[in-house]
Amino acid sequence: MDHFELRDGVLHAEELAVSAIAAEVGTPFYCYSTATLARHARVMQDALAGLEAPMIAFAVKANPNVAVLRVLARAGLGADVVSEGEMRRALAAGIPPSQIVFSGVGKTDAELRAALAAGIFQINVEGEEELRRLSHIAHSIGLVADIALRVNPDVDAGTHAKISTGKAENKFGISLDRVPALYAEAAGLPGVNPVGIAAHIGSQLFDLAPLEAAYGKMGALVAQLRAAGLAVSRVDLGGGLGIPYDPKLPWPPSPAEYGAMVQRATAGWDVRLMFEPGRLIAGNAGILVARVVTMKRGATRTFAVLDAAMNDLIRPTLYGVYHDIRAVEPTGERMVATIVGPVCETGDMFAEDREMDVVETGGLVALMTAGAYGATMAGTYNSRPLLPEVLVDGDRFAVVRERQTLDDLIGLDRIPDWLQGDA
Ligand code: LLP
Repeated sequence: MDHFELRDGVLHAEELAVSAIAAEVGTPFYCYSTATLARHARVMQDALAGLEAPMIAFAVKANPNVAVLRVLARAGLGADVVSEGEMRRALAAGIPPSQIVFSGVGKTDAELRAALAAGIFQINVEGEEELRRLSHIAHSIGLVADIALRVNPDVDAGTHAKISTGKAENKFGISLDRVPALYAEAAGLPGVNPVGIAAHIGSQLFDLAPLEAAYGKMGALVAQLRAAGLAVSRVDLGGGLGIPYDPKLPWPPSPAEYGAMVQRATAGWDVRLMFEPGRLIAGNAGILVARVVTMKRGATRTFAVLDAAMNDLIRPTLYGVYHDIRAVEPTGERMVATIVGPVCETGDMFAEDREMDVVETGGLVALMTAGAYGATMAGTYNSRPLLPEVLVDGDRFAVVRERQTLDDLIGLDRIPDWLQGDA
């Protein structure tokens, strides 16, 4: 459930008409709902309430805006970060180091140093070489990091290949059979304190079975490690639960069903469980608002060309996925149109031959469910500035990321000495 709904014929974000925000901020822009963010945090907390002190660390990659992170921090969530930048954002939002987990397959020495200096809760180690490197760095500065080994459970998450992470051939994690020896090695190394294991098998999962299979393998691994005399006090179960994008399709399992499965799958583990949901928290909490620049009646189809493009929301281009598209002020009439951006690539397409609300030139549209992996994946292709982000809270809103100016966009380029002078 979200807080974007039609009122008096106009799409509202909580108490505010989206058209009113557009009039002030200009288009395109991302618009987030505080109430929806807080609600999703609570839904996840409720779903896991039967567990002993679960830690819910929001996957910052899904939406790293500092104001969004502040809302989630107030709701009691921690942060799962995969770069120094994400860690800085989490800290800037007020998420305490004791609630921050650092994941990621290619942490640099500088990033490991930064994580150690910040004194974060846990570093999820993804490989043997990284383990030794972290041990060396931590030991050399006299610190000890709590670590988990990220395992690759070799299960097929049954989701899009580009966002599957738990198969043996994927780059992520350490193969299950290698973990016991590496965990034992870690227990003997200076600078690191192995406290548990972690996994994340993929994103936008519509089936609990692969998750349950992975958790089963992790439970067996915990028993195996303990049988070898190794201490295991935490297991990080990752994120990945899917959300509905297409209102016509069946819904994914609910957080409550997920929670019940977790309770069943982890019974008797006697560990602190950790979770890294991203999309589930932020996905439905955001929309991308754009204006129709022009309607183009082509030879075989009608195009609505928006002022937003693939550089602003790349998911449809990159994964071929569905985002619901609505008129901000629907007339009740419907049309079939192909919704594209102005970027010079045929792949710059949000929807192909979509049956949707009639829109005309100058009209506003909302691309729904764009709060996760939307703004964060935006780029500046075609020299299009990064778009602004707006946070709504009841009947007020604030621009929580300014629109990039063209001067900002161009100003980092440099003309070298030998090209100075006239063109
Ligand atoms: N933990 C780790 C280690 C991850 O790699 C991810 C996502 C998550 C947690 C959060 O997963 P979630 O709960 O959001 O499914 N750009 C893609 C999604 C990439 C997900 C990458 N990892 C998309 O737009 O669908």
